Amino acid sequence: MKPIDLINLDLYPLDRLETPAGHKLVTSIRDSLELDGSCTLPDFVTANALQAMRSQAISLADKAYSGPTSASPYFFNYDLEKELDIDVDRKHPLRRKGKRNLRQIAADLIPGDHLLSVLYCSDLMTQFLSRVLDKEVFRNQDKYQSLNISLQNEGGCQQWHFDTGDMVTTLLLQSSESGGIFEYYPRIRSEDDENFEEVRKVLDGISNRVKQLHLRPGMLSLFQGRNSIHRVTEIRGSTCRIQAILGYATSPNVVGSTKSSILHYGPRVALRENTR
Ligand SMILES: [Fe+2]
Repeated sequence: MKPIDLINLDLYPLDRLETPAGHKLVTSIRDSLELDGSCTLPDFVTANALQAMRSQAISLADKAYSGPTSASPYFFNYDLEKELDIDVDRKHPLRRKGKRNLRQIAADLIPGDHLLSVLYCSDLMTQFLSRVLDKEVFRNQDKYQSLNISLQNEGGCQQWHFDTGDMVTTLLLQSSESGGIFEYYPRIRSEDDENFEEVRKVLDGISNRVKQLHLRPGMLSLFQGRNSIHRVTEIRGSTCRIQAILGYATSPNVVGSTKSSILHYGPRVALRENTR
């Protein structure tokens, strides 16, 4: 299948963004992102593509790696405490760790001819996201982090956390029977205010500003997670929740930290990077 056959172009005219229908789509996505930092596009991929993507993802399941079982909301920013130069108590958000229970398949283990890779590498996607963000969008160039598949069985969850990128693009391939809800607090922090008091409320479960995104298989979700804390609630039932994470960036040549890749994808990364 070609990229043009994967995307539901009747609903999402990515091949004709210059038409009135294309403008309308981009405007509605921008409005949604402006409102609360997220946007969901149901049935983004065709039913046939979804079925094939799910089967291909399941065929790679034995390559998934569990990574850390707990992490702080600032998981990816190892030096924040030092940078801020503040005294933190035991209950401070910087010191809090939440349960993380998921397995991830790294980009280097996803064959280029799998439909997820075809979609991810399609210029239709980068052109579309460039239009939405009104700046040039590139594929993440990290050989492990650029495209991931996340698998969560019963009990699986992801702790409250912030992302590092400008926008995370996910495609749900299979839902769990229950649980597995994506929850977030839009723009809880900004570039110059970490807003630790509100973060503490979220971690304590007493914030009343937490929202939910009800994701469905085939739905593309655009989420600005750098300043919006978010999590996935615990999965219930025997059906594995399967989600693809498509990494795009607004700068060229973006790569992630090797330390993070070793944590997430296992010792094989350390071996591979040290033998260069
Ligand atoms: Fe995230």
